[in-house]
Amino acid sequence: MLFINTPLTKFKLTIVSICNPSANSTLMGLYVSGKSFFTQCEAEGFRRITFFPDRPDVMSEYFVTLNADKTRFPMLLSNGNLLEQKDLENNRHEAKWHDPFKKPCYLFALVAGDFDVREKTSTTRSGREVLLQVYSDKGSGEQTLWALDSLERAMFWDEKRFGLELDLNRFMIVVVRDFNMGAMENKGLNIFNASYVLADPETATDTNYTGIEAVVGHEYFHNWTGNRVTCRDWFQLSLKEGLTVFRDQEFTADMMARNLPEQAALSARAVKRIDDVTRLRTAQFPEDAGPMAHPIRPDSYQEIGNFYTSTVYEKGAEIIRMQHTLLGEQGFRTGMDEYFRRHDGQAVTCDDFVNAMESIYTKQYPQKDFAVFRHWYSQAGTPRVKVEIIYDEVKQTCAVTLTQSCEKVGVEKLHPELEKKPFFIPFHIGMIDAEGNSIALDVSSLENVTTTINDGVILELKEPSQTWIFQRISRRPFLSLLRDFSAPVYVDYDYSIEELAILCAHDKNPFARWEAAQELSSREILRLCQVFEHDEPASLNPIILDVWKHNLTDRSLDSGYRAWLLTLPAEKILFEKLSPITPLSLYQAREFVRQTLGSAHEKLWLETYQQNHHQGEYSPDPISAGQRSLKNLALAYLISSQSKQGIKLALQQYQSAQNMTDRMGALSPLLNYAPREISQPLSQDFNQRFQDNPLVMDKWFTLEALAAKDLQQINGLMQTPLFTLRNPNRARALLFQFCINNTLVFHAKDGSAYQFWADKVCELDRLNPEVAARFARIMDNWQRYASPNKEFMQKALQTVAQYPKLSKNTTEIVSKALN
Ligand code: ARG
Ligand code: ZN
Repeated sequence: MLFINTPLTKFKLTIVSICNPSANSTLMGLYVSGKSFFTQCEAEGFRRITFFPDRPDVMSEYFVTLNADKTRFPMLLSNGNLLEQKDLENNRHEAKWHDPFKKPCYLFALVAGDFDVREKTSTTRSGREVLLQVYSDKGSGEQTLWALDSLERAMFWDEKRFGLELDLNRFMIVVVRDFNMGAMENKGLNIFNASYVLADPETATDTNYTGIEAVVGHEYFHNWTGNRVTCRDWFQLSLKEGLTVFRDQEFTADMMARNLPEQAALSARAVKRIDDVTRLRTAQFPEDAGPMAHPIRPDSYQEIGNFYTSTVYEKGAEIIRMQHTLLGEQGFRTGMDEYFRRHDGQAVTCDDFVNAMESIYTKQYPQKDFAVFRHWYSQAGTPRVKVEIIYDEVKQTCAVTLTQSCEKVGVEKLHPELEKKPFFIPFHIGMIDAEGNSIALDVSSLENVTTTINDGVILELKEPSQTWIFQRISRRPFLSLLRDFSAPVYVDYDYSIEELAILCAHDKNPFARWEAAQELSSREILRLCQVFEHDEPASLNPIILDVWKHNLTDRSLDSGYRAWLLTLPAEKILFEKLSPITPLSLYQAREFVRQTLGSAHEKLWLETYQQNHHQGEYSPDPISAGQRSLKNLALAYLISSQSKQGIKLALQQYQSAQNMTDRMGALSPLLNYAPREISQPLSQDFNQRFQDNPLVMDKWFTLEALAAKDLQQINGLMQTPLFTLRNPNRARALLFQFCINNTLVFHAKDGSAYQFWADKVCELDRLNPEVAARFARIMDNWQRYASPNKEFMQKALQTVAQYPKLSKNTTEIVSKALN
């Protein structure tokens, strides 16, 4: 606390702060990375630099003077415009910056160092010339072209889709190697984790390319949703994050669909949606069912650094998307305009956003009420929607009943007096017949239906249970449910396997078709999981083989989408459907299905590989990326089933690879499934080839972490000179990846890896509490695991809880987990 006693109401206060950036391993506040200085102030880093009322509703105008040695720090950057730069005595120089926009201190930034700079001038919609720059460590400037172009695309997109223009004359992105998160939207001076900027075909994968475009867009879009309109307090974090994630998702979707014919554009969009939904289900659904469950607008926290969660970000984006669905593209845009009209320059709340949207909604639909929608902001948990239909052949009607429920989760459980209220769920459905033709839905006599999208409708579920009766349904329909994932919910519907097989092969809605394949294979894997639990003989339901064959050979579909159709549901998604979680038998079951599909369809996989394998100049566009993803999926199926041909193709592909997607696409399955004498030399080759590129070495650590067969190998990797816990990317590449994705070793029944985890949490905690706390969350759902894993996990958590001087960050996580 700083108390200033003065009779004056207005005065000038000068504060001199001394700090030690090179000793700052937390990477919050002012710190050193490589030879340069960087800042990270969100959420509460500014207070580590100087005294300040560090809260987002305190907005000020900043004048910044930087003074440094000219040789070591030739570039001195801060927010806004450069007022002047001049030389001083003793080889020093100074730069003065001014940010004309008032801002909260979490958006403050400074950088001092020596960099490669790539820049271009561009013209905004209103004809202003702006300078776009990317600064990166010396020698890496060749790899910033994609990021700089992405920045310009983001700028044009925000003008076109939302009418929002860049408000500065200069926009800078600076790369840093040590960074806790992805990137940071400081006004005019974004600071980026190197992994979200640097790319060239030899070292970056297709996923890296799309990730860079998305994050560059995300941070750029924050300039309006976050900076011009900011948060009143940190409970409102999703106001800027959920909205900005929604905006970056739409940006990516539009970029992917750009220049494609209608059908291809539709499936490119579906690919993006599938990708986002998969991410939500892998990370957010488990979070929403565990000890850290919170509403997208949390009502309490111990450490805000722990609330940059997939609930606030990804579920937050889903809540925005539902408003977009309910208002329609045009209505949503009008709502955004209204939001900026009301709140530009202010620090506001999630309620303010919903109020702006509601004002448009009620103008559009005077008889409808939006109030129930707000429950998405105050209640946690993933709702379940139960679907029941009654088809009446005589009356030719189909009655659809939706019933919602949502269990209490997280802190809600501590309040038995609180009743959970219903959510407003826009539930998109369609109906098809056995041949896959859509059945026209007549909504003229129906209430609580928003719009028809193509051949589907959106049912507005606002009460615990509602029924819609569709007229003139002449055949028994097959239901295509929750199309495009119109709400973040679980669907319970008693499909027959045959029904699912029809939807998998014929649903016109590409998202729902993929969903049917997920549902079908997930049921089969869960069934086999029980079979393996009881050591019974296993065999695969032939329907799965048929469906996979159908989709493998359906060449009317483009490759990227087909790859998703043929991908099995992720382990983490399946864990959520198990009670208790039996990680090893689930793993076994999933592998069994993969291998059986691999060997039964060997010939088709080989053909698919050949059809999609093209050498030639690399381009990250969605069509060629889609072909690589399908071809590499084929390799993974083949090699997991020990196909000799598959291994041969992968070896050739590795050796002749011209880009990182192909190189890793071959190496990864070889490391996981081929004999070590085949894969080991390749791994060494990879390591030697890319020794000097830290981002590629991160990839190598991940490949090794996932292929490790025992804990000793992980310890061995930690001993190599290139490993360090101080660099978050490296820690994530090896430790996080091992614990999250190497099921066999991490969940070994002797519990040894859990103790290893505990040791690493504590070690990390001494260096970097924010990263340690994130790592600690891996054990969140321990209570739902079967014995003996559960007991071992609990013990490991207790080890961490008892560690002396544990940070506030990690304390919050483990104490909630143990509660
Ligand atoms: N606002 C940043 C983003 O674009 C994330 C910053 C989070 N920083 C942190 N130290 N937790 O999403
Ligand atoms: Zn953000």
